[in-house]
Amino acid sequence: MSFQPERVLACHILTSLLQHRGSLASLLTTETLAKAQSPALLQELCFGVCRWHPRLNFYLQHLLEKPLRAKDMDVQCLLLVGLYQLLFMRTPDHACVNECVGTAEALGKPWAKGLINAVLRGAQRQQDELSALAERDYSAWYAHPQWLLDQLKKDWPAQYRDILDGNNQRAPMSLRVNQLKATRAECHGLLASNAVASTAGELAQHSLYLAQPMDTAVLPGFAEGMVSVQDESSQLVAALLPLSPGLRVLDACAAPGGKTCALLEAEPSLQVLALDNEARRLPRIQQNLDRLGLLATVRCADITVAGAEQFGRFDRILLDVPCSATGVIRRHPDIKILRTAAEVENLVSKQRALIHAAWPLLEPGGYLLYSTCSLLKAENTEQIAHLLSACPDARHIPLTIAVATTCDYGLQLFPKAGGTDGFYYALLRKQPIAE
Ligand SMILES: C[S@@+](CC[C@H](N)C(=O)[O-])C[C@H]1O[C@@H](n2cnc3c(N)ncnc32)[C@H](O)[C@@H]1O
Repeated sequence: MSFQPERVLACHILTSLLQHRGSLASLLTTETLAKAQSPALLQELCFGVCRWHPRLNFYLQHLLEKPLRAKDMDVQCLLLVGLYQLLFMRTPDHACVNECVGTAEALGKPWAKGLINAVLRGAQRQQDELSALAERDYSAWYAHPQWLLDQLKKDWPAQYRDILDGNNQRAPMSLRVNQLKATRAECHGLLASNAVASTAGELAQHSLYLAQPMDTAVLPGFAEGMVSVQDESSQLVAALLPLSPGLRVLDACAAPGGKTCALLEAEPSLQVLALDNEARRLPRIQQNLDRLGLLATVRCADITVAGAEQFGRFDRILLDVPCSATGVIRRHPDIKILRTAAEVENLVSKQRALIHAAWPLLEPGGYLLYSTCSLLKAENTEQIAHLLSACPDARHIPLTIAVATTCDYGLQLFPKAGGTDGFYYALLRKQPIAE
């Protein structure tokens, strides 16, 4: 197989991304990674440019004499890759400049060689000046789009700097041990005997953090269903939703099934209905259930569409709604480029429709756990406040998680270096019918 240079592949991927023709997840596929001699370098370039895009782009605008034409987005991406390598990867200057100049030829843009040479050498020379300029521009310095920075500052005035810092870190790889197949200590031992170092998470009982991320294809115990990849924050849903044998549980937004499986590992006799409105995402739920040896009914459905009553009523509902994903930016740094404030408004409306559609499906006396991987109050505590004001039979039940921040309603985790993603949970109970 003939490999393609990582920089060329990175330019193609980043060009598509900046033109809103895909995300890192959809563009940086296993097939694309296999085209690179070093998939790790390709991944590093793509993730790194997205993570630092607001700052790299700020530098680039200062270094270019005039903006590039829209049709030269690939050249712009090459310059961003070069700046990332120079300023964040500490690639030796001469190697970085020479390789980027060479890549212009491979992109079919030999005219850009001089420009690339001039911009990257300018960046080398002006590093201190550029850095001083960026320090005076919030969006560039914190490497977040202005709208998101403003919103985080408004929602979390005391915490926003730590949040921004957390969003700019790399996420650790964490595992959920399938308690039906092994204890956390046994799994730790299995990993250690295969030279995979791990440590126990402090919040979720069955969590392990790997010292280094690795492909699940070679992760000991993965194929056998002993472990799943899941952030510790997501694992906590199984501890926060009160469970007991045989309850009817609705997981209303279930794909790809991470939390469905966490609930069933905690209490395998639950009768779980796992719904998702995206048919193409359903097979992943079933694959996860099969790998882990768990049973649930999986259906394609949208509970906001009339007819949801066909599913009956449930003792427990997990509502893990689609959200801005602002708590998982460190895992998906392309959110900084792709997400817009208008999209968040749409998501807020969608979440409101989902929570109001789910509430009538809950049995009196039952519990509903609402969760998001968002940091924004409009998607979290404000949604719960809205439901409580509209549904007199809804009660907010306070939760406790060490290190979480208590909101008006529910709890917020912030992304923490070496720890959890940003995550929100709120527990509601429907008033039992009076005897
Ligand atoms: C945050 S993800 C769920 C992740 C999942 N709970 C897990 O832990 O693996 C949100 C899911 O909601 C689904 N969704 C969005 N709108 C929906 C709707 N109206 N009805 C059902 N599912 C919906 C999306 O397709 C997406 O799979």
